[in-house]
Amino acid sequence: MTQVIVGAQWGDEAKGKIVDFVSDRAEFVVRYSGGNNAGHTVVANGKEFKFHLLPAGVLHPGTTSILAAGMVVCPRSLVRELDETRAKQPELGKVVISRAAHVVLPYHMSLDALEEDARGKDKIGTTSRGIGPAYTDKVQRSGIRMAEFVDEGLFRARLQAVLDAKERLFSLFGQTPPKFDDVFDEYRGYADQIRPYVGDAEQKLQDAVAAGKRVLMEGAQGTFLDLDLGTYPFVTSSHPVAGGACIGTGIGPRDIQGVLGVCKAYSTRVGTGPFPTELLDDTGEQIRQQGNEFGTTTGRPRRCGWLDVAALRFSARANSFSGLVITRLDVLSGLGALQVATRYRLDGKELAGVPMCSHEWGRVEPVYETLVGWEGEMGAARALSDLPRETQDYVRFIEEAVGVPAAILSIGPGREQTIVLRPDLVWG
Ligand code: GDP
Ligand code: IMO
Ligand code: MG
Repeated sequence: MTQVIVGAQWGDEAKGKIVDFVSDRAEFVVRYSGGNNAGHTVVANGKEFKFHLLPAGVLHPGTTSILAAGMVVCPRSLVRELDETRAKQPELGKVVISRAAHVVLPYHMSLDALEEDARGKDKIGTTSRGIGPAYTDKVQRSGIRMAEFVDEGLFRARLQAVLDAKERLFSLFGQTPPKFDDVFDEYRGYADQIRPYVGDAEQKLQDAVAAGKRVLMEGAQGTFLDLDLGTYPFVTSSHPVAGGACIGTGIGPRDIQGVLGVCKAYSTRVGTGPFPTELLDDTGEQIRQQGNEFGTTTGRPRRCGWLDVAALRFSARANSFSGLVITRLDVLSGLGALQVATRYRLDGKELAGVPMCSHEWGRVEPVYETLVGWEGEMGAARALSDLPRETQDYVRFIEEAVGVPAAILSIGPGREQTIVLRPDLVWG
């Protein structure tokens, strides 16, 4: 059984927590897109782990974690993350990095900052990890892949050629690229540390799927940050949607049996770009404080707003969700009446779906329905019936409005603060 876990909104839906929870029964956990722009938090055995590149399944020693071809991998960040994770938990699962994954190098990070500066008031608010420039190189066919990176002779030649070509690009910003010797000397050290992990990830994965092993694909970012389907240009440079799991791993669509869409019980977004249900008032601030909504990767305050079912319906179809995972229900406690956007209106007309263009996304008026809120601490609940009646009604409302059953509910960051409603939708 191969299953994908996807962010249904704008990222930070608690995918990391859910992947960790589900992957105790997985033999393989695979990151298929993005890089260290992701920040996936797992709270396990009394410790908090923040994963940026390693799949969140790595805490299960019997599970193999794969960094697949669709990723862009920053070696400096990966080496640090491996060290930090081992310092907290010495025994990790095996890690395999695809030979085809692309490498993020210092010039990508410099260009990310230069390009953001040049955008002025139209900044995307990127994570400044060099993600856009690394994917640009891949599309332009000048990227350096893992197999080349860990071969010292090849890396030397490729790096020299790329830096020569980058001279022209940097000169447009009145800058020069990083010096070859500086980059090479630092990064060949990382290559030595990473080499043992680089292997035939695609072959291993295809063999695992053919043998019927349990494979979990871990999405990063979220549906509305998808390069094609999100609020372009305020998006990331890869494909977080479920289809991205096929492109990024070498597993075809007919081999995927389930897609869990992770959504918060409300909405958040980091960075700029359209956000129809954003709350710029005290309620937005209350959600940010109650939910501690500050970025895992950059520490930036997250923009907060009401749940947007109009957007989630698009997400459900774009990803073929088989089940929903509704997280952070506890954060809405004590907020009073809850609003949920069920449709959009644009220029006085009701839309059948979502507008695909940012200039319209930015102008839609959400049509809200009001639901009764709830009070009190719910972190100790272990079954649906332990939750306030109003919370149960909220969940039923979402299921009906999105048209997808709720498979899992999350009521706190811990592994035990998870309620499985439909085990059949979690592992078949
Ligand atoms: P991801 O990027 O989708 O993996 O999400 P992040 O890790 O960036 O952000 C989710 C945050 O919510 C983390 O700090 C989690 O520890 C925390 N978290 C996960 N589930 C819950 C929940 O149900 N309730 C609360 N209050 N926090 C949660
Ligand atoms: P996880 O996996 C939330 C956002 C950035 C910015 C835009 C482009 O933790 O959910 P990039 O650096 O990718 O070029 O930035 O995408 N972004 C995320 N927002 N969660 C993430 O990852 C994100 N990864 C990128 O804030 O708006
Ligand atoms: Mg995150």
